[in-house]
Amino acid sequence: MSSLQAAAIYGTGAYAPERVLSNDDFSRLYKLDTGDEWIASRTGIKRRRVAADHEATSDLCLKAARAALEDSKLDASDLDMIIVGTITPDYPFPSTACILQDKLGISSRHIGAFDLAAACSGFGYGISTAQAYVASGACRNVLVVGAEILSRIMDYSDRTTCILFGDGAGAAVVGPVRQNGPSHKILSARMHADGSSAMLLNMPAGGSLRPASASTVAEKLHYLRMGGREVFRFGVTAVVEMLNDVMARHALTADDIGMIIPHQANVRIIEAAAERLKLPMDKFFMNLSEYGNTSAASIPMALNEAARAGKLPAGKPVLLLAFGAGLTWSSVVLQW
Ligand code: UT7
Repeated sequence: MSSLQAAAIYGTGAYAPERVLSNDDFSRLYKLDTGDEWIASRTGIKRRRVAADHEATSDLCLKAARAALEDSKLDASDLDMIIVGTITPDYPFPSTACILQDKLGISSRHIGAFDLAAACSGFGYGISTAQAYVASGACRNVLVVGAEILSRIMDYSDRTTCILFGDGAGAAVVGPVRQNGPSHKILSARMHADGSSAMLLNMPAGGSLRPASASTVAEKLHYLRMGGREVFRFGVTAVVEMLNDVMARHALTADDIGMIIPHQANVRIIEAAAERLKLPMDKFFMNLSEYGNTSAASIPMALNEAARAGKLPAGKPVLLLAFGAGLTWSSVVLQW
């Protein structure tokens, strides 16, 4: 380990589109048999943001990235690599990361830029990848973005899915631990996957197996599909397992933890995990009620909000715990 360079998060940024969709809007706008009482009590979500028609995922990335660069006291020209975690890219290809590179005005720089499809674990996978490149010395400053416009893949006639998801972006810059500037050391970053349950959360068509056709459109196969109850159980298990693993590896007691920032999917998932581990809910930072589940954007948006609100105690461990389609899950431990 001694020859490896310790990596840190320098700064964060986020962006949420202006348009707000409330729980009661689903019955009003889409004639769905649902409302605030069911949605708020079963999920903890009150409202979510929806991108404007002219906005693409790269536009959300750009705003979050600029804020993260400013917070990191860096210029876009300082970047050596761009990673975008998303399941709702601007196009199947080219990557949204390349489009973002151009929008940042640094397309003349010969740096790597790529998308990463780990769904809700996209930001944790991105931080883990960035950490490895920084640790090896191959890169200095890596921009990691988690961004989604999930409203574009929602079936607004399906009340079991469309009420859960929202749009947004969050970003962070990762680089070598530094003395002269903001720097939150990455103590560990782990990625996990279990492809045997890949179809629990998926978009059935639009790929090589079932390319887009008139029939895939007619059968509504270009929307997100989910086995809600199974994913719920997986979420609880993943959060419990990751917390046990992180607390054992870093020899942490509940009192040592500064804050846990879990993937914002359903507050009942977090309540169930907290109860199993006998952890108080105030150890978990939640902003789900305002944004719903924004997949890859959820953790960086929450991290940015918690940091700017002064909710992350300096010097204490901050845990980022993600879980989602793939199935994938990831844990990141930062020293704030
Ligand atoms: O990023 C990770 C991705 N996803 C998740 O983390 C989601 C994990 N799953 C969940 O959060 C929950 O399973 C849901 C919120 C999706 C569903 O909650 P639930 O408490 O598991 O409800 P259920 O699926 O057991 O359904 C209970 C009832 C059903 O009615 P019947 O069959 O009992 O008559 C549903 O039709 O609730 C009904 N229902 C609704 N009612 C009003 C389902 N969605 C709605 C709705 N409004 N939006």
